[in-house]
Order: sequence, then structure tokens, then C-alpha cells
Amino acid sequence: MSAKESMEVSEAQIAVHWQEEDYYHPSTEFIAQANMTDASIYDRFSLDNFPECFKEYADLLDWYEYWHTTLDTSDAPCFKWFVGGKLNASYNCIDRHLAKNRNKTALLYLPEPEDEAHQPITYQELWVRVNETAAMLRDTCGVKQGDRVTIHMPMVPELAVTMLACARLGAIHSVVFGGFSGKACGERISDSGSKVLVTMDAYYRSGKLLEHKDKADEAVQVAADEGQEVEKVLVWQRYPGKYSAATPLVEGRDYLASDLVKEYAGQRVEPVRVPAEDPLFLMYTSGTTGRPKGCQHGTGGYLAYVTATSKYVQDIHPEDVYWCMADIGWITGHSYIVYGPLSLGATSVIFEGVPTYPDAGRPWRIAERLGVNIFHTAPTTVRMLRKAGPDEPAKYTFHFKHMTTVGEPIEPEVWKWYYHVVGKGEAAIVDTWWQTETGGFLCSTMPALQPMKPGSAGPGMPGIHPVIFDEDGEEVAKGAGIAGNICIRNPWPGQFQTIWGDRDRYVSTYYAKYNKNPKSTDWRDWPYFPGDASVEAPDGYFRILGRVDDVINVAGHRLGTKEIESACLLVPEVAEAAVVPVADEVKGKVPDIYVSLKPGYESIGGEVERKVSDAISDSIGKIAKPKHVYVVTDMPKTRSGKIMRRVLSAISNGKDVGDVTTLANPDIVDEVRKLVQG
Ligand code: PRX
Repeated sequence: MSAKESMEVSEAQIAVHWQEEDYYHPSTEFIAQANMTDASIYDRFSLDNFPECFKEYADLLDWYEYWHTTLDTSDAPCFKWFVGGKLNASYNCIDRHLAKNRNKTALLYLPEPEDEAHQPITYQELWVRVNETAAMLRDTCGVKQGDRVTIHMPMVPELAVTMLACARLGAIHSVVFGGFSGKACGERISDSGSKVLVTMDAYYRSGKLLEHKDKADEAVQVAADEGQEVEKVLVWQRYPGKYSAATPLVEGRDYLASDLVKEYAGQRVEPVRVPAEDPLFLMYTSGTTGRPKGCQHGTGGYLAYVTATSKYVQDIHPEDVYWCMADIGWITGHSYIVYGPLSLGATSVIFEGVPTYPDAGRPWRIAERLGVNIFHTAPTTVRMLRKAGPDEPAKYTFHFKHMTTVGEPIEPEVWKWYYHVVGKGEAAIVDTWWQTETGGFLCSTMPALQPMKPGSAGPGMPGIHPVIFDEDGEEVAKGAGIAGNICIRNPWPGQFQTIWGDRDRYVSTYYAKYNKNPKSTDWRDWPYFPGDASVEAPDGYFRILGRVDDVINVAGHRLGTKEIESACLLVPEVAEAAVVPVADEVKGKVPDIYVSLKPGYESIGGEVERKVSDAISDSIGKIAKPKHVYVVTDMPKTRSGKIMRRVLSAISNGKDVGDVTTLANPDIVDEVRKLVQG
């Protein structure tokens, strides 16, 4: 590219090239019933009223003792919320609903096999199970306040029961995603210093009953090698009374929880009154380098924040049937399957299986059967369902009043399918931007207060004040449409407290970049840096462009991989697209494009490849022109359905793909490699 050309195309213009979409307005029916219809909430939560405004959220909880200090910044950036207050999370999620809603369904469990009946668990039944499980953890395993308990389980109600039992005891749970390996679990056991592991014998995935207990043995071994001894392993059974794993129990260490818990029948455990600042859980997440970090979430601040956002953003009412199709092993499941919905006394669906098994109609059959009216999932799942069964939703009679997307930017084309075909044009959609670290939503529209805009998350949540900084720490003018690093100016109750055992890494990863005075105890000096690039439109809506490390720097220009992928999806044949940076002698990096096609399509004579390349040039500019476009039969994906761009990038760059055995479809890797490398 000539110097002249590169000067002509500024970063700002590139951002603007991703077309602004029109607004979609929520229906009057939705607004009429919404929990939050009062726009003055933004004034109440202005920076002038910070931090006291968050009292409004804390008042949604039941406290044993009220707090004296809303926000303590004396150990900034380790902020303390609602100091002096005492509460219990399991009391708030269960006990307080008993008086009025004892026999209302709390959890609605759906096994994957369609011939197994769904299981409603009432608040009374949940209370009984959580008490008995807490007694078992206390008396068999010696679990007490402040102890860490690692839980490595699939999507079954016993997972939520075990989490709430830990919370009842004031113990800190560390849930490891069920699809992770024994090794990954062992490393997390070791880092957290857990002496107890809770697991399961087996679970269903795509029609197969998979062994799970073998991972526990590996995990215990890995932890032991790192010096952490696991004393007790509790094994829930997928079919109580029948052991479904091939791996034997280890005498004196392993106990069948489903049997053992019967010995605690009728036992009740008084909820431990923990200080608001006591950790509720750890959730490990990957960083750019090094081992996964244990994000430590507190009790009072976290619970207040997820309760309020479940009420106002998810618009959950006690009478709703709410289904979040995430895994409880991720933060979305913690905040928006378990803690938020249960704290509100709602009915929360737990689904064991994969959305496209046995076919892409499954989620819609479930919605129809259970009367789900709030639906929550990730763009990846939406794309997957759109690819496998674009016409399926129309075959079922279900009506969502509200839908959520979370976890990745959603391409406008995909958003529109979600809105028209899944939502049948009736549902209000929220695109919620946040992270494991942040506990709850950071940017989203409030569904009855602002219109939706496909591809944009929306403005900062009430009390969340985003700002975009450039690399040098200068603020990008509000609404300028220039991409930069989005940060949050202020602390908020849902944010994590630190990285477990590594305060330095907490400070250096999330604050050091924009902090000017490391000794300051003024929160204004500690903007939170989530590591995402973003652009703010003149209407104050933020569009998240992706991780800072996902940004492709082409000849000095920032291109969000998502921008390019969105352009690829404009080609009618394309179902999914992934963009990876490939090294280029002249431009530094250029995009390589991988696309898979909708059923029944093929690329004849390189026609689709050409269309994709043209679509990118047309919608973004020539600087984004891909080096190659590859049409693949499928993308390498994690078991949670995320496209593994890292693997594609390694293939494009002729590097080692690393360990791909944990992928959902490891075989595709060789196929793609042959296509690319010959
Ligand atoms: O890059 C952002 C992206 O997902 C990252 C956080 O991932 P994780 O901690 O796994 O949490 C996922 C569930 C909250 C963010 O740094 N991300 C999350 N939500 C969105 C998003 N990107 C765009 N739009 C979103 N709505």
C-alpha cells in the first residue's frame, strides 16, 4: 500500500465502514410488563451519585446485618463493597422464597435423552437437597467457611445444589467446566488449594453416555504432583443407585454422593452469616500468557449485581420460565442460570445436552414443551442453529418475550435471523457485553428503555461508565467512532476482587495500563481495562470489536476480525466465517478467511471464494482484502462451540497447531491443514 493510500484510510474511517444498523424497537407489550421502565435510573446511577447509588441493588437482597460503608477503596484496586454487611447467598437464593413460593419450580432439569422426563425441582426440594448436601460436605469432607471446593461436573441439577451447599457453609466453590480435561481440573485444584473434589460418574453428550469419573483420578494425580492433596472425592451418579463409570472408586477417598447424602436425610444446616466481602467463588479464565487465573468473586457485591441485572436486563419475573443455554461451568451460568435467577425466585432451566442433538429443532421443542419465554444464548450457538436448521423455529409454537446474546460480537446478519426467526419479531433482544472478571453485564441496552441496534451491545449499564482510551491513555472523544481500548471509569459491585493468590497479576493485567499513580486510593485513578477494542457511536452505543489481541493490524490499521467475519456473512452461501491474521512481509498482518457453507451449497470454480473477497473489499475496504479464502466443511471448535481461531491461525501461518485433542471435532484439523498446506 502506498503512503498516500494509507493516509487516506484512517482508523476512524475503518471503524465507520462497518455499517451502522437501524434501530429495532421493543414492542409495547414488552414495555408494558417490563421490570425497568423508568429512564431516571441513569440519573440515579450517574457518577455524581457514585457509589451510594448501588444501595438500590443491595436492597434487593436480604441481609443479616446491614453494611456501614458502600465502597471501601483503601486497598485500591482491590475494592470492597457493602463493608460491614453480613448475608448468605444460599439463603438469598432459596430460603427467602419459601414462605410464598415453597412449591414453585426453582430448577427445571432437562436430560439430553428425549425419552427421559424433565425434572422440576421446587424451592422446597432445592432447600432440602442443599441442606443435606451441605451437611454431607461438612461432616464427611470437613468443609468449613473459607475452604475451597473444586466442582467438576456436567449440566445436572446436582451441580447447582453443590454450589449452593458450599455457599451455605461459607465455603468457596471453584467450578471447572465439565468438558475440561482432568489435567486442567487438577491444575485448578492445585492453584485453589482444594482438598475436596466433587464430580460425577457420567453424563450425556450428543447421544452418548460419557465417562467422567476417570477425569477425577487424573485431576487428583496432577494436583498431587503439584503438591496439593485431595482428601475426598464425592461422585454424584447420573442415575442414582447405578454407577455408570468404568473407573473404580478409590477406597477411603471416593464416595458415591448420591448414596451418601441419604445418610444426611432430614438434616438442616443453618446458613453461615458471612461478611459481604467473603469470597463466594473462584472462576478460572485464560489470559494471554501463563496459567489460567482464578477470578475471585465476593458475596455481597456479586449477588447484588447479578440479582439486579437479572431483574432489569433479563427482565425476569417470578412467573417467567427462563432458559439460559450456557454451561454453569462458565461465568454466564453462575450469574445467569444459578445466582441471579434464583435470587429473584424465578424458574431456571438446566439443559444437559447440545443444542443441535438429535437435530436443530431440539431447543425449540424444549421451549414449546416447557413454555420458555426468556431465552439466553451465545452468537456461536445462534450461528450453529441457523446453519443446521434455519427453518426449524417456525415449526414450533413458542413465544419468547425476551432474548439475550452474550460472549462474542454478533454479526448483524445473524442478529436479524435471531430476531425474526427465533424471536418471531416479538422478543426484545439484549446484546450483553461483559467478562468472567466483571461478574455481570457492563454494556447492554435496558430492554424497555432503549431500542436495539444489531451488532452493537449498547450503552454502559446504569452505574457503569465506559470510556475509550487510545494506546497512550488519551480519551477518545465521546461518540467519535474511533476504535480504541474500552475501559470502565469506576468500580462496580459485581467486579472480581482479585486473582486468587496473585494480586500483582490482578493489578498488572487489568489496571496498570491506565493507572498513573499506583499508590492512589482514589477509585478515579483506577480505570478497569478489560482488554477489548471498541468503538462508540454518536448515540452512545458501544460496539465491541473483539479482544485487543484478536485485532489484526494490517499495514498499521486496526481491523476487528469480527468486522471482517460480518462481511463474509453477507454472502448468501456462507454459514460461518473465521478470520485469522497471517504474517505478511509488507503489511505486517493480513487476514486469512475460513468459511463454511450452508447445507446444500458448494463453491463451484472458486465462486464463493471470490464473492467473499469482494464482500470484504466492498464493505470495509481494500486494506482488509484477504490473502486467502478457504471453504471448509466445518470449523475446529471447542466443546462449548467456540471456533478455535488459534488453530486456524497456526495452520495459516504454517505453525504447530498444538494439542487439539480436547476439541469437539479434532479430525477436522487435518482436513483443513491439507486444504491449506497441500
Ligand atoms: O471479548 C469480549 C467477549 O468475550 C470476552 C469475555 O469472555 P469470557 O470471560 O469468557 O466471558 C464470556 C461471557 C460474559 C470479552 O472480553 N464478549 C463478551 N460479551 C460480548 C463480547 N464481545 C462482543 N459482544 C458481547 N456481547
